[in-house]
Amino acid sequence: MLELKNLGKDYTIKRNSVFQPKNRLVAVDHINIRLKKNSTLGLVGESGCGKSTLGRLICRLEEPSRGEIYLDGQAIHNLKGTSLRRIRRKFQPVFQDPYGSLNPRLTVYRTLEEPLRLHDKPNNKNEINNLLEMVGLGNEVMGRYPHQLSGGQRQRLGLARALAVGPELIIADEPVSSLDVSIQAQILNLFLDLQERLHLSMIFISHDLRVVGQLADEVAVMYLGRIMELAPANEIFSNAKHPYTQALLEALPKLKPGRGRLRSILKGELPSPVNPAPGCRFYSRCKYAGKECLDYENELFSIDVKHIVACCKWHQLQQNRKYIC
Ligand SMILES: Nc1ncnc2c1ncn2[C@@H]1O[C@H](COP(=O)(O)OP(=O)(O)OP(=O)(O)O)[C@@H](O)[C@H]1O
Ligand SMILES: [Mg+2]
Repeated sequence: MLELKNLGKDYTIKRNSVFQPKNRLVAVDHINIRLKKNSTLGLVGESGCGKSTLGRLICRLEEPSRGEIYLDGQAIHNLKGTSLRRIRRKFQPVFQDPYGSLNPRLTVYRTLEEPLRLHDKPNNKNEINNLLEMVGLGNEVMGRYPHQLSGGQRQRLGLARALAVGPELIIADEPVSSLDVSIQAQILNLFLDLQERLHLSMIFISHDLRVVGQLADEVAVMYLGRIMELAPANEIFSNAKHPYTQALLEALPKLKPGRGRLRSILKGELPSPVNPAPGCRFYSRCKYAGKECLDYENELFSIDVKHIVACCKWHQLQQNRKYIC
């Protein structure tokens, strides 16, 4: 249903003086992903690795610097104006902070009526009731404003608004990160339930591998703008090949569920994405790094049809049994 080919996004960063060369921040690079209908791809990685940028590119909230995006075989990376608006109903974003993405001056009723009206869909009270019921909200909230709702209720409203236009693909960017753990579980179950009931495809972004593991069919592990490993979720947990994925897995028990950033689990800071050095992106923090990694660019190695790893040493490391997986 969704195919990304060599997708990339750069930002130009201000230089300190006119004599300095322009700085290129590579937020997302060489992204190749295929998402099947009715399945969920989990996107996981440290803060700043480019997850949200990738989400915004897919939603066409941002222009890609290079690469292509296909939805049901149709190229959408270069759509503009009315054709972009028409295709937008097929994919809808859900954000981490529903407070920030909901209009504080609109009641629940108006929040849901607006997208229905904009997309020429029936927008009577019945439709709005149905939407509220779908996300587990009672109709007593209809007249309330976002600030009169709890965090969980706001996230349910964000989801209802995304569902209003009947999308085929939901791009959820850290939708449970700002919620209490008990509420997180409820919202994750709601996502699972809706995906099954409405046959949705989903890209679920989180910095927490365990959250992603609960509902993703496949997991893509990102590091510094690139995908390091892509595999079915159970493969990622039981048979990870990339040293970075393994580091994330090793660190899991040290993190409280759903809390904290992954920034501190690996030695050293995530390197700057500004003018990245050639070679493997993970070089500076990889305990297995060798000089061949400096020549590695972006070759992806297939472990099997569904399992891809971006590490030029994976085979050698596997043979040396240095891996713990
Ligand atoms: N509009 C922008 N202008 C310049 N740089 C940007 C912009 N948006 C994002 N970036 C940079 O792109 C990189 C990726 O950012 P992004 O927000 O996609 O990461 P993320 O993985 O979503 O992080 P987090 O987990 O903290 O949400 C970061 O280095 C960020 O500073
Ligand atoms: Mg983000």
